[in-house]
Amino acid sequence: MADVRILLIGNGGREHALAWKLSQSPRVEAIFAVPGNGGTATCEKVTNVADVPADDFAALVKFAQANNINLVVPGPEAPLVDGVEGFFKNVGIPCFGPSKAAARLEGSKTYSKDFMHKYNIPTAAYGNFSDYQAALAYIDNVNHDVVIKATGLAAGKGVILPQTKAEAKEAIKQIMVDKAFGAAGDEIVIEELLLGDELSVLTFCDGYTIRSLPLAQDHKRIFDGDQGPNTGGMGCYAPTNIATKELMDQIDREILEPTISGMRREKQPFRGVLFTGLMITASGPKVLEYNVRFGDPETQTVLPLLSADTDLAEIMLACANGYLDNCHLNIENKFSATVVLAAGGYPGSYAKGTPMTVRQPPAGSTIFHAGTVLDGAQLKTSGGRVIAINAVGESLRAAVDSAYASLDSKVIEFEGMFYRKDIAHRAFRSSEKAAMTYAQAGVDIQAGNDFVEKIKKAVASTKRAGADAEIGGFGGELDLSQCGYPDAPILVGAIDGVGTKLMIAQAMKKHDTVGIDLVAMNVNDLVVQGATPLMFLDYYGCSKLDLSTAAAFVEGVADGCRQAGCALVGGETAEMPGMYQQDDYDAAGCAVGTVTKAARLPRKDAMVEGDVLLGLASAGVHSNGFSLVRRIVASAGLAYTDKAPWDASRTVGEALLTPTRIYVKSLLPVLDKIKGLAHITGGGLVENLPRMLPDALAAEVEFGTWEMLPVFQWLKTAGNVAGSEMCRTFNTSIAMVVAVDASKADEVAQALGASETVYKIGRLVQRGEGPGCVVKGLEAWR
Ligand code: AMP
Ligand code: GLY
Repeated sequence: MADVRILLIGNGGREHALAWKLSQSPRVEAIFAVPGNGGTATCEKVTNVADVPADDFAALVKFAQANNINLVVPGPEAPLVDGVEGFFKNVGIPCFGPSKAAARLEGSKTYSKDFMHKYNIPTAAYGNFSDYQAALAYIDNVNHDVVIKATGLAAGKGVILPQTKAEAKEAIKQIMVDKAFGAAGDEIVIEELLLGDELSVLTFCDGYTIRSLPLAQDHKRIFDGDQGPNTGGMGCYAPTNIATKELMDQIDREILEPTISGMRREKQPFRGVLFTGLMITASGPKVLEYNVRFGDPETQTVLPLLSADTDLAEIMLACANGYLDNCHLNIENKFSATVVLAAGGYPGSYAKGTPMTVRQPPAGSTIFHAGTVLDGAQLKTSGGRVIAINAVGESLRAAVDSAYASLDSKVIEFEGMFYRKDIAHRAFRSSEKAAMTYAQAGVDIQAGNDFVEKIKKAVASTKRAGADAEIGGFGGELDLSQCGYPDAPILVGAIDGVGTKLMIAQAMKKHDTVGIDLVAMNVNDLVVQGATPLMFLDYYGCSKLDLSTAAAFVEGVADGCRQAGCALVGGETAEMPGMYQQDDYDAAGCAVGTVTKAARLPRKDAMVEGDVLLGLASAGVHSNGFSLVRRIVASAGLAYTDKAPWDASRTVGEALLTPTRIYVKSLLPVLDKIKGLAHITGGGLVENLPRMLPDALAAEVEFGTWEMLPVFQWLKTAGNVAGSEMCRTFNTSIAMVVAVDASKADEVAQALGASETVYKIGRLVQRGEGPGCVVKGLEAWR
């Protein structure tokens, strides 16, 4: 039943987007926009109200009562900071927005900084000053770069980023003494300059429950490449690839939840929408600012990502009335981009009243008016940020391209208009961006090595007959002949997991190949010790057991075991509610095999300078380096369901899920003819090759002697990853290396060639002082 009658205050692009989404609600009967703009004028269910001043709260209340309004939606911050919520509260009309006291989160920087400090919410270091001399003294004493802000509202212009201490002092003089921003400069905040990516998050809140919209990135500067003066926002996209699930959880945990509970503790529960401006710094997300209203152009960007069945009016009523825990935001798994068109001269002075032509954009795109008016039948400009086009697509690239395609085909025309041509450029930065490394992606190989050093002692304390209890090698051994079984072979065990490749399987809902990876990681590690894998056990942990997922997974394990010729003798499926997020699962597995003493590999004593290194081709990324892979894919703006740029026949997700190759059956027949094997996993060629070598020898690998799989070339280029980093993180197309006497190299290569692609990739050399593996000619890899 259509029973909701809304009073919407404001006249920007944000308000048009709110009206657009609210009008789609079956519950909404009518929307009165005070004063509205040229877009709301023709929006379904909306009436622009010209004769009630938007800042006369008593008049607004009268209008609301006369028109049976039962939901008030203030768009901009000014009425909220001035206490409009209280006016409606007094007459019993629900208002979607915070009280005057809670609106201080935006209205007073001093208040919000003190609040963040009190509740331990990460933000820039700062000081508040109403005394000019004290502010100057602070500048002398700090050893970080600063930004200077007038504490009152200064329409986003009250922020100065000085380059030097002298400039900082001059800025303070202008604000505090010369009153460049009027009374807004009676008090200033001096803040630490934060560096990183700036993101915005819009969070619905009823005082208790929070529901956030996808993280968005605004473009504040007027010109391409983030040059020129600040504006209200020239474009926006969402979701951003910076926002991993881990980051969003961290933002909830460290910022949004403490903000909302802190406001309750202040006895000022926050209701409405909280806009949190974040800087994603090297030391985590920090709050730049709070706003107590929707962002512009964030709103035009994120509302189109809400599914058609998500009722904005219902959510706003839930926020105002305290039952948001009942509501869900259904967010489409798509990308959204908004390009703002400004009037020539903006953000300086610009013309108003310029006639405009606006045509219907294609499906999936929406035009949101901001500074426009309908003058009779003629649409005209009436502001600096005039109008925007939003497009939603399956990938960020698709969304951005379709927004610009509409502009190219002139869906909007007016004299003097201009817009940024590079919206979402930060999501697409590749060559110009700082090169990515595995450590930045959250994995520190050095830390892993340090950890091994630490636990060595504990491991050594388990030493028993038959076992040397040493770690850091490829796997574990136990000599059964020393345990009361004379003539018995050596038992060899290996244990491993699949790593974050599982996240791709989970995202793709394709679970039948990661079991192969699990087996491969283990049995390849056994065979490099000369062992024949005999049996395998797997472990599968989840919060809630989904039978088809778990079954697909185990079938993959069985597939891997068949490929390796080993029996799947057991496993454990653990269901632990709350242990993992939603449908996530983790898996580990253990392979056991045997080898005779004489057949153990590597035969380090037999290795000599000149031995040949044969490389066996990998099938793809296999199971290592996925933290970096995921980051590069995200930064390229690709979804796993997009076509793989390196393989037109498959999606990104399918291509990345290519299972790890199992080399066991190819290698077993030649084990007695070779000297050593290295399974190239995490750490790449450079870290894995030396592990099979005696101290005196090093591996000399000639880059270019094998064929590079397209996926690695793409990862290198898209992530701007250095060649050396590639060889330290990925298998770079060679996942098993065989060390063989030069005289037998051809024979072994030929035997392996029946089932593998084999390359002669290098040889053993005297090591001297150098590293255990050198990849020659790597500079040539571009
Ligand atoms: P504000 O008025 O506080 O929202 O600041 C406007 C803009 O100035 C922000 O969107 C940032 O781009 C920039 N800014 C504000 N504070 C900082 C800071 N501490 N470090 C770096 N940039 C900042
Ligand atoms: N787009 C920034 C803001 O709304 O404050």
